[in-house]
Amino acid sequence: MRILVTGGAGFIGSAVVRHIVNHTEHSVCNVDKLTYAGNLESLASVSDNERYCFHRVDICDRAALDAVFLEFRPDAIMHLAAESHVDRSIEGPAAFIETNIVGTYTLLEVARGYWSQLNDSAKDAFRFHHVSTDEVYGDLHGITDLFTETTPYAPSSPYSASKASSDHLVRAWARTYGLPTLITNCSNNYGPYHFPEKLIPLIILNALRGKALPVYGKGDQVRDWLYVEDHARALCNVLVSGKVGETYNIGGHNEKKNIDVVKKLCSILDELRPLDTVNLDARAVMRESGLDGKNYRELISHVKDRPGHDQRYAIDATKIERELGWTPDETFESGIRKTVQWYLDNPSWVARVESGEYQSWLNKQYGKGTL
Ligand code: NAD
Ligand code: TYD
Repeated sequence: MRILVTGGAGFIGSAVVRHIVNHTEHSVCNVDKLTYAGNLESLASVSDNERYCFHRVDICDRAALDAVFLEFRPDAIMHLAAESHVDRSIEGPAAFIETNIVGTYTLLEVARGYWSQLNDSAKDAFRFHHVSTDEVYGDLHGITDLFTETTPYAPSSPYSASKASSDHLVRAWARTYGLPTLITNCSNNYGPYHFPEKLIPLIILNALRGKALPVYGKGDQVRDWLYVEDHARALCNVLVSGKVGETYNIGGHNEKKNIDVVKKLCSILDELRPLDTVNLDARAVMRESGLDGKNYRELISHVKDRPGHDQRYAIDATKIERELGWTPDETFESGIRKTVQWYLDNPSWVARVESGEYQSWLNKQYGKGTL
């Protein structure tokens, strides 16, 4: 297959691109605007592969998208490009409306125009796979309820509302125009190459520097964590074997309270990068702030809660397990250790993200293969 991936320079998109190049025979064209969240350095291991190409394109730019479709002639689209951070959506919703709603609409129209010109067998085989989130369902208050594929939509934040809108557009294009679509709604991802504005990488990197670990409110909100490579594998499975028009929820059966995730990260760091023998710089910073500097948990700081903060997300992944045979490889225990180890082993990726240097590198590099 020739797969056009949007948002392939982002956290999950880059895992999908690496998965396709490393574990399949498919070709992949990465279409990404390279916002602050796009980092081509996350694709360094595959960028020279002959089955990979990149175009710096905004999915709201119809003419540029048309040109990429004409040149690459995709058999399938995996649409991941989005503004993805809830806190940013609260500060400034406009970019979320633009990319997540207008961008998805534009991509659907370009895909529809291209698809309608295909011959009958290519038309049947074509797929538009829209990658969405469990946040469209709003939150759960009971401790046993789970999101299923038929849970009514009740988004809470500008981010989740914009993703819900995009899901509705995709369903409408399937029903009205017959575009062969697939939708997946996944729980919170974590793993390597995660931009350090999200909880898990933020906590790891702040702890390593002896900086406060901000926990919103009491930290009793629950998220259902999935290792990003398990998600990438699930997405490829759905693309190849999913039934047209269907929705699949993807989740790792790893419900954790935020405070417990933060404590877990602290205890892994206590083991892998002890303050009293290895991370003496962080201990000095902690001492200057009046802390003992004996363990990372001392850095936990409860801060003002997020407005409209969803209490609990939890996915029922029975459908994808039963129909497509997908299950996660990583437990939370194994995945979170791998993640901490990855951040310890990749200080240069981290340093370039923290300094913003990755963007100047990107600006020099994206020209390769750009229309
Ligand atoms: P991310 O923010 O890390 O990456 C988004 C990518 O999209 C970036 O490379 C960015 O440059 C690109 N992009 C943004 N606006 C664009 C535009 N207008 N045109 C082209 N490219 C643009 O996001 P992520 O965490 O990798 O999430 C990917 C997708 O998965 C999103 O659709 C998100 O809603 C969904 N999702 C994320 C999670 C999660 O836990 N992160 C969970 C479920 C679903
Ligand atoms: P986040 O990683 O932003 O993902 P999402 O909001 O999409 O679930 O946040 C995960 C959880 O962690 C969420 O309940 C908010 C909380 N959180 C904190 O407590 N402190 C932080 O600094 C951040 C970024 C998030």
